Amino acid sequence: MADPSSPILIFDSGVGGLTVYDALRELLPDAPVIYAADLAGLPYGSKSEAEIAARVAGLLGRMGERFAPRLACIACNTASTIALGMVRDVLEIPIVGTVPAIKPAAAQTRTGVIGLIGTEATIRQRYVDDLEARFAQGKSLLRVAAPDLVACAEAKLRGGRVDTVAIDRAASDLRAKTKGGSIDTLVLACTHFPLLADELSAAFGEGVALVDGAQGIARRIADLVEGQPMARPQANRFVITGPLDAAAGLKQALERRGFGQTESF
Ligand code: DGL
Repeated sequence: MADPSSPILIFDSGVGGLTVYDALRELLPDAPVIYAADLAGLPYGSKSEAEIAARVAGLLGRMGERFAPRLACIACNTASTIALGMVRDVLEIPIVGTVPAIKPAAAQTRTGVIGLIGTEATIRQRYVDDLEARFAQGKSLLRVAAPDLVACAEAKLRGGRVDTVAIDRAASDLRAKTKGGSIDTLVLACTHFPLLADELSAAFGEGVALVDGAQGIARRIADLVEGQPMARPQANRFVITGPLDAAAGLKQALERRGFGQTESF
């Protein structure tokens, strides 16, 4: 039986995984959560596979020892598509990954043309090729890297202005690939991107449905911890790698989500 205070650990390079955290809190408002942002390693998308795998497996191994979580969620598509297997090898708890929501997108598209935006590293992964082959056969899946949107989402959560030029560029890069077809479904294959849902909807137009995995991941976590005792903490914990001032500006967004003071890892 899990210790009631043992947390669910949610891990991302930055604030993107808060989209998964938000969905999880809807389902499990009493669950103790530690959210860990590897701000010292952000962004992952421009790093090599070897760098990401070593960093994520190393950090999660140490976090597993320090926090004794009941379950860990890698709330990052880049880290999950590269390092999920390695992390499962180093931690003996259930690990939930976040992979591009190609399956639900393929089930709902009517035009058969699906756009996918993610980091440079995510869109080139075999893992994504495999999801496409399994779930999007007969459809057209168009992938575009939109790394600037990670910084846009980080800035937005700190109360900053969103650079719509980067968002418009992602939309026009994708449209340029459609060759006459019309995208009606857009996979947000980076956990940062749902934070920009309004801006993305404005750039892509109302006819394009945005699909991400946050709700599905939250349901999966809730299933795995079902029946376990949960001691609701005073506040959830938000930990970051690197200097604490990297979290400056996040105070409001974190307080609203029930986190205490930012801690360093
Ligand atoms: N949030 C991460 C993802 O889902 C990526 C951000 C980064 O480049 O670090 O892919």
